[in-house]
Amino acid sequence: MELLPLFAAIQRTPRVALTLSFVLFTLTIVPALYSLLANPTLPLLISSSETDGPFPSDHVHLSPLNSPSFRTLSPVNSPIPAPPYHTRHQKSSSGKIPSPNISPIPVPPDHTLSRHQHSSSHQSSSPVNGPIPAPLNSSPVTTSTLRTQIRDDEQRCDLFKGEWIPNEESPYYNNATCWAIQEHQNCMKFGRPDTGFMRWRWKPDGCDLPIFDPNEFLEMVRGKSMGFVGDSISRNQVQSLLCLLSRVEYPEDISSSPDIAFKVWNYTSYNFILHVMWSPYLVKTTKPDPTDAKSNFFSLYLDQYDTKWTSQINQLDYLIISSGHWFYRPLIFYENEKLSGCQYCSLPNTTELPLHYGYTKALRTSLRAILENFTGLAILRSFSPQHFEGGPWNKGGDCARTRPYRRNETIPEVSDLKIHDIQLEEFRAAEEEMEKKMGLRLRLMNTTQAMLLRPDGHPGRYGHLQTEEVSSRNDCIHWCLPGPIDTWNDILLQMMKTEK
Ligand SMILES: *[C@@H]1O[C@H](CO)[C@@H](O)[C@H](O)[C@H]1NC(C)=O
Ligand SMILES: *[C@@H]1O[C@H](CO)[C@@H](O)[C@H](O)[C@H]1NC(C)=O
Ligand SMILES: *[C@@H]1O[C@H](CO)[C@@H](O)[C@H](O)[C@H]1NC(C)=O
Ligand SMILES: *[C@@H]1O[C@H](CO)[C@@H](O)[C@H](O)[C@H]1NC(C)=O
Ligand SMILES: *[C@@H]1O[C@H](CO)[C@@H](O)[C@H](O)[C@H]1NC(C)=O
Ligand SMILES: *[C@@H]1O[C@H](CO)[C@@H](O)[C@H](O)[C@H]1NC(C)=O
Repeated sequence: MELLPLFAAIQRTPRVALTLSFVLFTLTIVPALYSLLANPTLPLLISSSETDGPFPSDHVHLSPLNSPSFRTLSPVNSPIPAPPYHTRHQKSSSGKIPSPNISPIPVPPDHTLSRHQHSSSHQSSSPVNGPIPAPLNSSPVTTSTLRTQIRDDEQRCDLFKGEWIPNEESPYYNNATCWAIQEHQNCMKFGRPDTGFMRWRWKPDGCDLPIFDPNEFLEMVRGKSMGFVGDSISRNQVQSLLCLLSRVEYPEDISSSPDIAFKVWNYTSYNFILHVMWSPYLVKTTKPDPTDAKSNFFSLYLDQYDTKWTSQINQLDYLIISSGHWFYRPLIFYENEKLSGCQYCSLPNTTELPLHYGYTKALRTSLRAILENFTGLAILRSFSPQHFEGGPWNKGGDCARTRPYRRNETIPEVSDLKIHDIQLEEFRAAEEEMEKKMGLRLRLMNTTQAMLLRPDGHPGRYGHLQTEEVSSRNDCIHWCLPGPIDTWNDILLQMMKTEK
């Protein structure tokens, strides 16, 4: 716990009030808020009854996207976007309980220091499952014939306005050909009966979006480096990218520390370096202290950089940053090194700030870090909506649909899209600043609307074994692999090509 003593004291004093409010709370809410999103492993840092926080209620304003099918959303019962993680039961592939920070990206079958990845015929052993198929020839996955270029006259096409259309060719990898699919997103492994959700592609109105071409991507990033900053949905996209690229090459793990939150891979044949940087709050954050039962809240320093990633970015050519879901938890905010307020905290003498206050400031601070020290192509990926229906995440909410919505359909009002709106606003403000900076290009990957149309793409109940005691929890936040999130990488490549 890095809290200064003063802050620690502030946090500890209101013991009684805190306890009371939590007792009330626990009566109505199922434990395990911390086993939320992203983070299969955090929850056990603290006893679960004390980690519960209020649901967003009166101050949740749900705001619609500019889509005709969007009715004005009512400020009701928006579930805390808590992913159905099942911390207590989840084991990593090596059989060990994952570290208490984040769940690991599965280890490549051979993350040894030897350079074996060049050979497409190379067969290697996974730590548990025996041989993993070699990436190329033995793969049953086909190459796309849809791989067309966007024509010059289509270059200005808005990639983010469109419709999902059938694609009989997909998927382009599966759980046998790709080692990087995390357990929770390995929907087929856990018995998902339908496969239709893999068979769609995103069709922007003004052009055809080419399907991701791993060779083209790797040629484009030869000698370059790319970093992803964010939470487990950011990691979800990285895993999709690893899988899409695994048809050509497996990377070598060159991470300098064992910290699974900060992975570095080298695609050695291309000298392409891929960094994954864990920062669900984007700014400096201190965690609840596991030894202090009264410290239940993440503390966010809204005006301070999370130097774990900001200190890395000046060496990168591409940066993809995203965030959102973690900002629905109980949080304490600091500005100017002083406690400035909190959300869902019920601490005496502490201002309860509106739900999106912290997000707005944190995003602004992180965009400032990019404006300050980054000179490549930076992409802000917009909010990834959840699709819990029939209740919130911890009250039986599920996402059992098996096909996308059409955009003229009425979509149930299940997702709070205010974060998307904040992203647009902050992006536009940063964009103006960017004009003054040489080199830096800041772009928006506005995939919120596209993903809103994909209630069928989440693991739902197929993110874990149904025999486990967690079977009542459904993940309607992350995305199955393969699945609609692969489209983010189609779009990423297209954006990179446009910027070239
Ligand atoms: C992002 O997408 C939404 C929905 O399609 C749209 O209303 C908004 O204008 C888009 N913003 C940008 C900057 O493209
Ligand atoms: C892959 O999915 C199939 C079902 O399509 C499942 O039987 C198998 O166990 C999964 N394999 C792995 C390694 O996840
Ligand atoms: C990545 O691999 C290439 C080829 O082996 C090597 O030349 C390069 O130094 C490696 N990069 C890093 C950062 O380790
Ligand atoms: C709250 O502030 C009031 C007035 O400054 C003070 O008397 C009281 O002790 C404070 N309560 C706590 C729990 O810090
Ligand atoms: C930017 O780089 C300078 C020099 O390396 C460093 O002092 C500063 O802290 C960096 N800014 C951020 C936001 O990391
Ligand atoms: C939506 O559009 C499709 C295709 O254009 C059409 O078949 C369908 O009837 C429309 N649905 C609604 C609810 O308007």
